[in-house]
Amino acid sequence: MINDLIIVAKEAGEIIREGFGKNFSIEFKTNESNLVTEIDKKSEKHIIDFITKKYPTHSLLTEESGEHNHNSEYVWVIDPLDGTSNFAHSLPIFSVSIGLQKNGETIAGVVYDVMRNEIYSAELGSGAYCNSVKISVNQNDNLRRSFLVTGFPYNIEENPDNAIEIFIEMIKRTRAVRRLGSAAIDFCYMAKGVFDGFWEVHLHPWDISAGKLIVEEAGGLVTNFNGDKIDIFSKQILASNGKLHEQLMGVIKSVES
Ligand code: IPD
Ligand code: CA
Ligand code: CA
Repeated sequence: MINDLIIVAKEAGEIIREGFGKNFSIEFKTNESNLVTEIDKKSEKHIIDFITKKYPTHSLLTEESGEHNHNSEYVWVIDPLDGTSNFAHSLPIFSVSIGLQKNGETIAGVVYDVMRNEIYSAELGSGAYCNSVKISVNQNDNLRRSFLVTGFPYNIEENPDNAIEIFIEMIKRTRAVRRLGSAAIDFCYMAKGVFDGFWEVHLHPWDISAGKLIVEEAGGLVTNFNGDKIDIFSKQILASNGKLHEQLMGVIKSVES
C-alpha cells in the first residue's frame, strides 16, 4: 500500500503543480483566512477516486469532503493540499499529505513536497525516507541554539491555548522560529534534522497523520504539551528530536502558568 500512497500523492502533486500560478477559483471556509481553491478539490477528487477504485472497502477521512465511512479497519486520512494559503498566493511551499490508519494507528504515511519534488515516506517500524534516502532527526540538545518551526490555526484571533504568548516566549529563548505554512512539511523538515522542534495547536487529523509517523520513524518524539502520547485528533502537537522535548515543554509550561 505504501507504493500506492506514493503514486497517488505524486499524481495529486502533478495536478497542483499544473495549477500553480494560474487562475483558479477561491472560496472562503470559516473566515477570509481559511481558503479552499478549485485545485484543492481537484486534488482530493483524484486521490479519492484512486483509493476507492483500488480499495473499495476502505474508509476515508478527507479535509474537503469529510468522512467516507465503510466501517473498515483501514482509514486513509487525506490532506489534498496542505499549504493552501501559500498556494493561493503563489508561494511555492505546499504538499500532499496522506496517512493510512489501521485500527486507529498510523501504519504508513506519505508527504509530497510538490515544488521540490520530494517524497517523504514512512511505514510503521521501518524508518523514514526522503526520495528513498533514510532520514533522521538531529541531535541538538541546546535550546538557545535551536531552530524551530510553528504554525497558527485559522482561529488565531481567539488565541487558543495561549498560542500567541507561546510563540513570543519561543522566539525569545531559541535561535529562530519559522512559519512555513504547511504543517506536513514542518513535520518532514523536523524528521530530516533541519528543525529541532515543531509545535502547533488546533491542527486536524489530515495535517498530523502522515507527518507524525514520519517524525517518529526518523527517531523523533511527538506528544501533546504535557508530554502525553497522542493520536491524530490531538489539538496540541509538540514534535522534537527527543533531546529538546523537556525544554520545549518547559517553555510552553512557563506561559501556561
Ligand atoms: C494549514 C497548514 C498550516 C497550518 C494550519 C493548517 P491547509 O493547512 O498546514 O501550516 O498552520 O493550521 O490548517 O489549510 O493549508 O490545508
Ligand atoms: Ca492542512
Ligand atoms: Ca488542505
